[in-house]
Amino acid sequence: MAPTRRLTGFKPTGHLHLGNLLGALRPLIAAQDRSESIALIADLHALTMDHEPARVRALALEQATVMLAAGVDPERTPIVLQSHVTEHTELHYLLECATGFGEASRMIQFKEKSAADGPIRLSLLTYPVLMAADILLYDTDEVPVGEDQNQHLELTRTIAQRFNGRYGETFRLPGGVRPGSAARVMDLADPGTKMGKSNASGAGRIGLLDPPETVRRTVARAVTDEFAQVRRHPDQPGVTNLIDILAGCSGREPADPVSYGALKREVADAIEALLEPIRARYAELADDPAHVREILARGAARVRPIAAATVRRTRAAIGLLD
Ligand code: ADP
Ligand code: TRP
Repeated sequence: MAPTRRLTGFKPTGHLHLGNLLGALRPLIAAQDRSESIALIADLHALTMDHEPARVRALALEQATVMLAAGVDPERTPIVLQSHVTEHTELHYLLECATGFGEASRMIQFKEKSAADGPIRLSLLTYPVLMAADILLYDTDEVPVGEDQNQHLELTRTIAQRFNGRYGETFRLPGGVRPGSAARVMDLADPGTKMGKSNASGAGRIGLLDPPETVRRTVARAVTDEFAQVRRHPDQPGVTNLIDILAGCSGREPADPVSYGALKREVADAIEALLEPIRARYAELADDPAHVREILARGAARVRPIAAATVRRTRAAIGLLD
């Protein structure tokens, strides 16, 4: 049987954080020897909101370097910069022709992001279709994503099914992969929202390259509650999040019985044990950006034939002359 193919994507809109690692990156790395994975840096997605060109470029390189530092093996798992493989945009357009305006405008992430002040880019609306193109382009079987992306993955399946139904079997239907307790790492300062690259203050975010003092300080300041009980409970989102992070980082449940202070120390230790080697490896790799760029060029070259074949199939199915 052919190995399953996994793909997951990261937007270079900020520094990678613990949510990205536990929710998406680690599940990808964990399956490297039994699946053919692709780690995608979705730089085109970074253009859907206000952006600074130099920053997108710098973050794309930083993310590739962090992925390598976290254990992505580019021999088994090509690291691909989305804009290097132009088939993404071509398939995006073809899939737009099989997607409803209503469907796209119902996406929660679109509603949330378009509610902000200021002009909204049309690409923000069509963003999930580009994500569908990312996934379908490579005949992906499994997509490890955090919970926030479930709706986009569902839309991908809807588009693929509709296209196959109308124009004949063209796309493989992808499924999600649940990363378990860390599917949704919440912000430590505001446990009602997920930890994200662009959360306003950044006070509750653990960056994968944050120095140890910063990690400890962020955990020490994490919002808890008045219950003084270490347990997972809907009324205790902050404490639940800390317990989930501990489980996600170390596989351990809190030592029993513990105070909030002791819980936070345990959590900080577990995060630190995970991040310390990543930070060290990053420092080495960041000394040689040309090497990382070379890895990106090789990644694109590896996957381009698969992408080209999918686009050829799609063009033929939808009615374009060769
Ligand atoms: P962000 O939302 O921080 O900008 P991305 O959109 O680049 O991050 O997400 C990259 C991947 O990381 C996606 O699969 C997403 O589901 C996952 N992810 C992002 N934030 C979290 C989180 N707080 N907990 C779990 N997974 C997350
Ligand atoms: N849209 C995803 C996010 O915001 C990032 C992403 C882009 C992605 N392309 C993808 C995730 C393909 C999985 C597969 O988190």
